[in-house]
Amino acid sequence: MVNLNLKYQDILAYIIKESPFTPDIAIVLGSGLGTFAESSDKIKSIRTSQIPSYPSSQPKADEPPAQTIEGHSGYIHFSKIGNKQVIIFQGRLHFYEGYDLSDCILPVLISKKLGCNFIILTNAAGGINKNFTPGDLMLSESFNSINIKKELTNLIGISSFNAKNSFLNCPSEKFNSIFKKSAASLGINLHSGNYWYGKGPSYETPAEVEMLKRFGADAIGMSTVHEAVLASSLNMEVAIISCITNMAAGISKQKLSHDEVTLTANKASEKFSSLLKTAISIL
Ligand code: HPA
Repeated sequence: MVNLNLKYQDILAYIIKESPFTPDIAIVLGSGLGTFAESSDKIKSIRTSQIPSYPSSQPKADEPPAQTIEGHSGYIHFSKIGNKQVIIFQGRLHFYEGYDLSDCILPVLISKKLGCNFIILTNAAGGINKNFTPGDLMLSESFNSINIKKELTNLIGISSFNAKNSFLNCPSEKFNSIFKKSAASLGINLHSGNYWYGKGPSYETPAEVEMLKRFGADAIGMSTVHEAVLASSLNMEVAIISCITNMAAGISKQKLSHDEVTLTANKASEKFSSLLKTAISIL
C-alpha cells in the first residue's frame, strides 16, 4: 500500500502554506467543464506546474510521454461561490495517460488535508441509457469500480476497502438530494444513473457498450471512481455529476472524438455552472 502522506509530503506542505482559506467544498472539473472555474470569484490560482514535485506531463527518461489531454489545463483555484469557500481543480490527470493511480487522486488528498469534507466530482461521459441526449447532465446514484479494484486496494489498503457499508452512502444521499432540489428549482432535467468506469484509453466497442447496458450502466467514462473511493474512505461526502457529451459506441452510429466531447461539454457549461452554484449555496 502506498503511503500517500509520505509520497506527497512536499506537495501537501506547499498547498497548506499557500492556501488562503479552509475550503468548505472541493470541485474536480471534467473535460470541457473548465469554464466553471472562470465564472467563480477567484481569490488565488496556482498552476500545478509551479508546485514542487507535482506530477507533470514531462516524460521521465525511460518512459513514453504521458499526454496532458486537451481541455485539462492544470490549475488549483481558491474561489468564493456565494457564501462558500471552494477549491477547484481544473485539469485532471488520468490513469489512461500513464500516471500512477496515486497521482490521479491528488485533488482528493489535498482537499482532505485542507480540512474539506465535501467533494463534487465532475466528468464527461458517454450516454448508454437511451433516454439521454448529448448535453444532458446525470447525477450518479452509484458507480462501478470493478475494473480497478486491484489498483484501488493497493492505493487505500484492504482494511479501508473492507470497511462495513462503505459505499452505501457514496455518492452521498444528502448531497444528491440537494442536487435534485437545485435542478428542480432551475428547471434543469437532471438524470439519475450509474456511472461505469472504463480504463480506456480507447473508447469502447459497441459490443462492450451492449454488455454494460445489460449490467445496468447508464453512462461510461474514464475517471472519477478512484477519486470517489478514496474520498469515501476518508469520510468525505461525495457527489458525482456527469455531462453526457456523446452517446456511447453503438448507441449512436456517430464516430466518437475527444473534440466532440469538449465541444458538447462547453455547450452544456452554462447549465452545469448554474446547477453547481445553486447546490453549493444550499449545502
Ligand atoms: N466512453 C468513455 N469515456 C467517455 C466517453 C465515452 O463514450 N465520452 C466521454 N468520456
